[in-house]
Amino acid sequence: LVSTTFTGCTSKGPSTIKIGGIGPVTGEASTFGVSTKNGYEMMIEEWNAKGGVLGKKIELVFADDKGDPTEGATAAQKLINEDKVVAIAGTVMSKVSLAIAPICQSAGIPMVSPTSTNPKVTQVGDYIFRACFIDPFQGTVGALFAYNNLGAKKAGVLFDNSNDYTKGLAEFFRDKFNALGGTIVAFEGHPAGTTDFTPFLTKILAGNPDVIYCSDYYNDDGLMAKQARQLGYKGPFLGGDGWDSPDLVKIGGDAVNNSYFTNHFSKDDQRPEVQEFVKKYTQKYGQAPDALAALGYDAMGLILQAIQNAGSTDGAKIRDALKNIEYHGVSGVIKFDENRNPVKSAVIIKIENGQQVYVTTVNP
Ligand code: PHE
Repeated sequence: LVSTTFTGCTSKGPSTIKIGGIGPVTGEASTFGVSTKNGYEMMIEEWNAKGGVLGKKIELVFADDKGDPTEGATAAQKLINEDKVVAIAGTVMSKVSLAIAPICQSAGIPMVSPTSTNPKVTQVGDYIFRACFIDPFQGTVGALFAYNNLGAKKAGVLFDNSNDYTKGLAEFFRDKFNALGGTIVAFEGHPAGTTDFTPFLTKILAGNPDVIYCSDYYNDDGLMAKQARQLGYKGPFLGGDGWDSPDLVKIGGDAVNNSYFTNHFSKDDQRPEVQEFVKKYTQKYGQAPDALAALGYDAMGLILQAIQNAGSTDGAKIRDALKNIEYHGVSGVIKFDENRNPVKSAVIIKIENGQQVYVTTVNP
């Protein structure tokens, strides 16, 4: 018989604390995952450089969800059951977070989504938190900006019918724009995987809109903008956080200039802690952080600070520490309401000559 003596563990337990990180580093919106992972890593390195958490080094176990709910669920199960992570930072897209959250909830593993803005995500249960604002707010900010700042009276709306985030955000925008007295000339949902948006845009343009609200991710938004320009549309586009990618301009080119989107973070925020983060991140990764990097950094920071505050890696204790936290992140101050959502401001960004330009901050 082989020896049954197990010497891998001492009574002190493992010498590192494992944290899961999930994000789409491949798939339809891969820049989202890359930035998010960078943010997770940078936060962990900073804690480790100061001696770790509870005297132990932090180890990131990262998994790619590929922007797909089934892949996300498999990744979460592996992190929890095989890697034995004590908490999960993730994931980016609401539709994937909605598949991961029930797994974390039933395992009693706290989950902090950096960027999933659909309200349903944290409704899954008391172990599910997020570092970002939610879409009823984001849609409202977009509608107010369209109506009051752009002076739009007529809006067309285009979104992905199969994606909880883009559909939800389109509905919140529509409801607020209507409530303000505006007219929605067309509300067009497209199926997943659409690359020719002309039929939908043709319906929208027939209503002669002052603005077109596109609540998709950057790859679709870039294409939509191009195709709308080909059909003769000259007005602005407005979108949500899904626009935030260095690839938006690569795909959309000139077509996305003079458009606006709501976001969580601007690298032009002059708060010293933000400028310090922008500098360190740019040095390390060779490009300025976007909102995904900032929120990945803050989501991981929330988890590590909560473990430190809890004095324990027990799931219920981390959850309770998260409930009571007041965390000063690069994306703002994070304190959770009774639904485990932070109340935070939004920024409005304009695309000008292919660059993101900060326009204004809107408080809740
Ligand atoms: N809010 C998006 C979602 O819920 C994800 C996202 C956030 C994308 C921030 C880009 C920037 O699916």
